[in-house]
Amino acid sequence: MRVPWIAATFFLARSALAVFADEAWNVDYHYALLGLPKQSTSFFHQPNPSSRASLIYTLSEEGVLGAVNPRDGSVVWRQLLLSEALAYNVSFLRAGEGQDTVISGIGSQVAAWSAADGRQAWILDTAGPLQDVEILELSDGRETAGAKDAIALSGGEHPAVVRIDGTSGAIKWQYQWDGVDQPYQVSASTTEVFAILLHKTLLGYVKLKVVSLDPVTGRKTDEHVVSSENELASAETIVSVGANSASPIVAWTNSAHSVLKVNILGTKEISSFNIEAHDSHAVERVEIHAPYHTNSLSHFLVHYETATSHWADVFHIDLKNSKIEKAYSLPKMTGKGAFSTGTSDANVFFTRVTRDQVMTVSSASHGVLGRWAVAGFGVAAGPGESVEPVHAVSEVSIKGTSVSAVRSAVLLSTGDWVLLRDGSPVWNRPEVLASTVSATFAIPAEVQEFVQQLEAEAHGNPISAYIHRVTRHLQDLQKLPAIMASLPQRIVQGFLGTSADGGIASDSFGFHQIIACATRDGRLVALDAGNPDKVLWNQQVADLQLGQTWQPSVSSPEGGIIEINSKASAGVRYNASTGEQLFSILPIDETAGEVALPVKYAIHKGELDATVDTKMAWHFTPMSGERIVSLVPRPVNDPVASIGKVLGDRRVLYKYLDPNLALLVTANDVTKAATFYVLNTISGAILYSNVHSGVDLGSPISSMLSENWFAYSFTAEASANSPKGHQLVAGELFESLVANDRGPLSASANYSSMQTGTEPFTLAQTYQIPEPISHMAVTRTRQGITSRQLLAVLADSSAIVGIPYGVIDPRRPVSRDPTKDEQMEGLVRYSPVLDFDPKWYLNHQREIVGIKDVVTSPALLESTSLVFAYGLDVFGTRLSPSFSFDVLGKDFNKFQMLATVAALAVATFVVAPLVARKQVNARWQFA
Ligand SMILES: *[C@@H]1O[C@H](CO)[C@@H](O)[C@H](O)[C@H]1NC(C)=O
Ligand SMILES: *[C@@H]1O[C@H](CO)[C@@H](O)[C@H](O)[C@H]1NC(C)=O
Ligand SMILES: *[C@@H]1O[C@H](CO)[C@@H](O)[C@H](O)[C@H]1NC(C)=O
Repeated sequence: MRVPWIAATFFLARSALAVFADEAWNVDYHYALLGLPKQSTSFFHQPNPSSRASLIYTLSEEGVLGAVNPRDGSVVWRQLLLSEALAYNVSFLRAGEGQDTVISGIGSQVAAWSAADGRQAWILDTAGPLQDVEILELSDGRETAGAKDAIALSGGEHPAVVRIDGTSGAIKWQYQWDGVDQPYQVSASTTEVFAILLHKTLLGYVKLKVVSLDPVTGRKTDEHVVSSENELASAETIVSVGANSASPIVAWTNSAHSVLKVNILGTKEISSFNIEAHDSHAVERVEIHAPYHTNSLSHFLVHYETATSHWADVFHIDLKNSKIEKAYSLPKMTGKGAFSTGTSDANVFFTRVTRDQVMTVSSASHGVLGRWAVAGFGVAAGPGESVEPVHAVSEVSIKGTSVSAVRSAVLLSTGDWVLLRDGSPVWNRPEVLASTVSATFAIPAEVQEFVQQLEAEAHGNPISAYIHRVTRHLQDLQKLPAIMASLPQRIVQGFLGTSADGGIASDSFGFHQIIACATRDGRLVALDAGNPDKVLWNQQVADLQLGQTWQPSVSSPEGGIIEINSKASAGVRYNASTGEQLFSILPIDETAGEVALPVKYAIHKGELDATVDTKMAWHFTPMSGERIVSLVPRPVNDPVASIGKVLGDRRVLYKYLDPNLALLVTANDVTKAATFYVLNTISGAILYSNVHSGVDLGSPISSMLSENWFAYSFTAEASANSPKGHQLVAGELFESLVANDRGPLSASANYSSMQTGTEPFTLAQTYQIPEPISHMAVTRTRQGITSRQLLAVLADSSAIVGIPYGVIDPRRPVSRDPTKDEQMEGLVRYSPVLDFDPKWYLNHQREIVGIKDVVTSPALLESTSLVFAYGLDVFGTRLSPSFSFDVLGKDFNKFQMLATVAALAVATFVVAPLVARKQVNARWQFA
């Protein structure tokens, strides 16, 4: 009797979970992301100087500043510093030793944040773009007991070094210089502040100029050039400036990376070291790792990397004689490696993370203090791709003279940020998803086959459909042995859970679709919508050079296949289940879906040009002074269940259904007007247009078109008779506004988009909404029978709401109560103010930040639409706008039902002989 025992345990565990978890938390998922961390802006730091618990801080490539708990990888707090972070990829993050604030620098703004909760302490706008930010680790008598001061170097027209008060953010002094020298970096020792400037020579070379400043007054005390005349062809071979150490340095290499030169700032000597070639490959990257504390030993590590291997040298600085000498080397290893610096009092430790091990050495000698094997990072990578560490930050725990533990936050080549405790992965944050620029749902090949079978049954005549179904079930018998093997497990699951939680292969509801995300740095990452806790595969698909963009757009032209179109290549296909690239182009099923002609749009010199089948079809010239804001075509796969709307009195209003519709938005920056056009994309005809004046063009204007209705939203400026407000407009297109009348199209089965005189009749209604909508999408179901929800991204409250169509229906009766017939249709009286019902919030209480797009896909169940939102965070859920009419809910108690049936069976079994005897007796008594 083993199975019931296990079953009972499962049952108890499940019901215990049910106490805590809402149903909502089971079908939706959310990754609160930061973006790819940069090595120079990531570190372990104790937010509270009196406690030893530290957090990991980072300012990511997306411009998100955040603190992550190293125990479980959860975000403690985060701040979006700039929405358009890419323009400001130069950013800085520093924390002074024993300080409870962190200081960030991005764009032209330096800001201080409470390390514990992320609250802003102060913000300062320097005049030009920041080149560097450091913390001044010195006590010059003028410092208060509180926060340490910061030093910032800004460029632009008036480059300057500024000392910023750590408590108030006020400028203490400012050093500006004349001339054309470009600011490069700033650095400080215990007694001096150094500004490193780049001086362009007549021959086009760069010379490194070091300006020494008095930290108290900001006055220049010395200035000299350290590199020789034609040594540096560009600033690219400058390796690093050791900031805030007991003896800051500047280092550079020649362009062949064969000689390393180091200068201790404030001195004139230059130490030169040959970079030994360890194999036939040239050194491609040289990096310096040094402690950021003025009281640490002045040791540093230089990391060399070739295409196939890496190694490192450790150097010691002799402070008395201002000499640098090589102490020891860390041997060459194949593959990439990451080095990080950790400190304990004055001691410095270097931790090396490679593909297969983590190793810690002291900066003083080469003896290995700790070595741990890495069995794998626990992340998914594409076929044939090896996972390499890119960079790491670590924290060492010292017991006596040995290292008892090392925690390293490692960024991997897959874009995963993992924490290794010694050598074992503890958590993994798929930060690569934060840079998703295009995403799509794909039905797995296994499920696609099932879909085709269902479709055949749905469209055939009843008898052949029945025969088809019986054959299908007979074929299913072949899978019987496999099913039998998994039977005990299935019984337990079947008794107690929903069968929707199985794997991709056994997905009969279509919840386990594959979501493919193309990221800005050229990767394609796949998630399982029904089991999003782990990444299915993660694959580099575009090899981008620094600064290159590829603007991908992913789609799934058929089940099991993902296609990428980018600037570089068109129609590259991948197997959705494995991520393998498919080289044979499969024939595309042209008959699938509705026939929307392939219209291509381009905005050219402010005009919208449309080409159909590569021929120029029409072009749209906005009125003078107008610019095109957006163009939203009707979705390609947009099934419509019914061509009409059934009214309460059983008459029908015919919908204006044309697969070739698009909603175009233009704006006039002078008159502050926005114009919305519904276009026929084949003929270019304008079917509807509306102008709104007094529009705040700085706020988002979002729009959406589906079936025969559209919606758009904008912010109206305050005017004489109304305050500033956000508006949502919904419009619906009909063939005729007279019930049971098809208007000029009447019954002609044969109509052409080029035909004139087929303008729709449009009803539109405006609603006041509480906040702007930054993006819109619409739910999609398999046959379009289920009612729709308008999905609106609310950037201000970091939320997504699903607005039922009935609420924004333009046919809501105005200034009167609905008639009986209208009530039958579910129409309620129009009211101009539309408040977002708390039940509409798909995110519940979670904050979904930075959403740029929402994609939807129908499940196999007609009732359900899958939703996936991306941008910075990733959020997904399943929606049933008309409730789950075709599936039993979680609250359906299978166990109770089966128990009842069993009890009845027992009762029948027990009672049957009694009844039989009674009947027999009754007969005999009569006789
Ligand atoms: C920052 O971006 C600009 C252009 O977007 C690029 O030229 C520059 O090299 C980038 N800087 C870094 C440090 O990546
Ligand atoms: C994708 O890979 C799976 C598993 O290897 C395979 O069964 C399927 O046929 C592949 N699909 C295509 C289109 O190649
Ligand atoms: C549709 O139009 C085409 C071309 O004008 C014509 O050949 C065809 O007979 C028409 N079909 C119907 C059902 O009217």
